[in-house]
Amino acid sequence: MSQAEDHPGSRRDFLYYATAGAGAVTAGAAIWPLIDQMNPSADVQALSQIFVDISGVEVGSQLTVNFLGKPVFIRRRTPEEIEAARAVELGDLMDRDSQNPNRPGTDALDQNRTLDEGGEWLVMIGVCTHLGCVPLGDGAGDFDAWFCPCHGSHYDTAGRIRRGPAPENMWIPVAEFVDESTIRLG
Ligand code: FES
Repeated sequence: MSQAEDHPGSRRDFLYYATAGAGAVTAGAAIWPLIDQMNPSADVQALSQIFVDISGVEVGSQLTVNFLGKPVFIRRRTPEEIEAARAVELGDLMDRDSQNPNRPGTDALDQNRTLDEGGEWLVMIGVCTHLGCVPLGDGAGDFDAWFCPCHGSHYDTAGRIRRGPAPENMWIPVAEFVDESTIRLG
């Protein structure tokens, strides 16, 4: 069962819309098999954009959208989740890279992972960096966040790998707020 199906109301929340022109979409589809092998996520994302309406996402819930064939988790974190993530020191992390192309070269402290300064919005590609399963969310695993049951990778409330075989934090897509209720991916 996918993350989207797990979450009550998530079907209603699939109210995102693509604004890329038909030409761009075609180019993306044709180029995907080549560049997917090299995994240059920033390049892939540059080929297409979607705009996601987040106005219906309540605190403590998560929206999953399909972007370029991968699930993207858009979580509106609770104050407790933010506090837990921000209390973690760099030395406690297995992967100290933010894995955030929106803030290249930054470390994995929580403020370098979130989309907004306050840390309410966490947007990341919902794919385990071990072998590519889609982790379970909504308080799963040892860190009450995301857990990949395939081989036991536990991610914290910032989507950072904390225990298990996954080598990297969950990747963050190119993203930004275009207004207070809309996030652009890509
Ligand atoms: S694919 Fe997630 S732990 Fe192996």
